[in-house]
Amino acid sequence: MNLTLRIWRQNGPEDKGAIHEYQVKGISEESSFLEMLDVLNEELFERGEEPIAFDSDCREGICGQCGVVINGIAHGPEVTTTCQLHMRSFNDGDVITIEPWRAQGFPIIKDLVVNRSALDRIIQAGGYISVNTGGAAAADATPVPKQDAERAFEAAACIGCGACVAACPNASAMLFTSAKVTHLGLLPQGKPENYRRVVSMLNQMDEEGFGSCSNIGECAAVCPKQIPLDVIANLNRQLGKAALKGV
Ligand code: SF4
Ligand code: FES
Repeated sequence: MNLTLRIWRQNGPEDKGAIHEYQVKGISEESSFLEMLDVLNEELFERGEEPIAFDSDCREGICGQCGVVINGIAHGPEVTTTCQLHMRSFNDGDVITIEPWRAQGFPIIKDLVVNRSALDRIIQAGGYISVNTGGAAAADATPVPKQDAERAFEAAACIGCGACVAACPNASAMLFTSAKVTHLGLLPQGKPENYRRVVSMLNQMDEEGFGSCSNIGECAAVCPKQIPLDVIANLNRQLGKAALKGV
């Protein structure tokens, strides 16, 4: 495949940045999107030009490091992580525009790399679980209703990639925050701090400059782990209960 790539280049947080155009030739449709960028970077390196900075780690859809906006869609045309996107999702001759996540809470470090540590600080604001679980207990020592276990597991699948923020017109981090609140609050060990956790995490989300949720749903549409939109309803319910309890 021969492709035209339009890639956002930005030297640093203060640089203005602009789209630069590159041609890549002979890309296998079996290669991954990031391997295609690796090929381009090798060519740039050989020409003595600065390679494109982009983030990745596991390249297995686990770590959440790799997200970019491809043709206007967070993680591109498939509902998966950027590293799990393959070139067979594109056609020979395509023009592909690649940009970083854009949100006040995710300042650009360089080119396609953004600083997502705001998500870590939201998790940190949630605090720790104080229940002393002691030594390794039998798996069935603390009964958890099947429905709660499955829902907590579903929410725990969030990898903190930030696509939900990048896709949201308000740059809200509600899907991410709600996934964490739902995951921890449904399990018995996470219940004692549930209300305090909801309030602290939401306050931190606001402090980091993320917007509010207005139920548009773009977040869930691009989430590579298919975190459902109704975790946000759960967070709002917990927030209401926290207010009633005066937390
Ligand atoms: S909720 Fe989905 S899109 Fe948002 S950070 Fe988690 S995995 Fe990524
Ligand atoms: S590089 Fe780890 S999820 Fe993509």
